[in-house]
Amino acid sequence: MTRTPALALEALHKHFGATEVVCGVDLSVQAGERMAVIGPNGAGKSTLFNLISGHARPSAGAVRLHGRSISGLQPFEIARLGLARSFQISNVFPQLSVYENLRCSVLWSLGYGYSFWRLVGSLRDATGRTEALLERVGLAGQAQTLAAHLPYAQQRALELGITLGSGADVLLLDEPTAGMNRSEAAYFTALIRTATAGKTLLLVEHDMDVVAELADTIAVLVQGRIIACGTPQAVRANPAVQAAYLGVAA
Ligand SMILES: Nc1ncnc2c1ncn2[C@@H]1O[C@H](COP(=O)(O)OP(=O)(O)OP(=O)(O)O)[C@@H](O)[C@H]1O
Ligand SMILES: [Mg+2]
Repeated sequence: MTRTPALALEALHKHFGATEVVCGVDLSVQAGERMAVIGPNGAGKSTLFNLISGHARPSAGAVRLHGRSISGLQPFEIARLGLARSFQISNVFPQLSVYENLRCSVLWSLGYGYSFWRLVGSLRDATGRTEALLERVGLAGQAQTLAAHLPYAQQRALELGITLGSGADVLLLDEPTAGMNRSEAAYFTALIRTATAGKTLLLVEHDMDVVAELADTIAVLVQGRIIACGTPQAVRANPAVQAAYLGVAA
């Protein structure tokens, strides 16, 4: 018996004018799997994420979340169904404290604003959840710090907390350690690993140390096509991957 994947891409295409950027991608991510999408600059990785998260519409093909088609839905509708995308700092309210930022995302996930009676129950619930989230992303000591005053890696940790606060079970992370130095990247990678335990993860990452630390499986995207997908060992041994990366790895 085959399980319904948490996330499935089916014959996905995207063209901008005459240029085809995503050329028939099929990909399945099982619940709890951690997959890295790697590939050269301009391969179409971010475009693929935009198609999944609803920030761009596929030209053809389908995206399914737990079996349900989400193609053509708005990003907020997709987020409500349990798929969250971690953007750069733009998700963070700089003039709110760390605690307030996390509380906003928790309240949103609990349906804040939908009904007064639901809100009364939610507020009690939200405090506990916000405190748990602070611990989970290692920011308990900075609860009252304004988000704008956090060092870079901790801003990204806050952003991860906001993403987790939405309650999503499928997370997309696009180059989570971009712009970090070695020690920040190591700190943040370890944090992602523990904070996202049990979640389904799809990440785009150029740093192979980060990929090795976070991913169970790797999909290689070259010129809009998946040329290999499997365990890190299988992908490394794949001749097509070696050819695509020839000169890059050397
Ligand atoms: N809105 C757009 N309109 C036209 N072309 C686009 C658009 N978005 C992306 N592209 C093109 O599509 C191709 C893939 O871009 P994309 O950003 O998805 O690559 P990427 O794999 O994420 O690259 P990187 O590793 O540099 O982040 C590039 O050639 C890019 O110029
Ligand atoms: Mg990109």
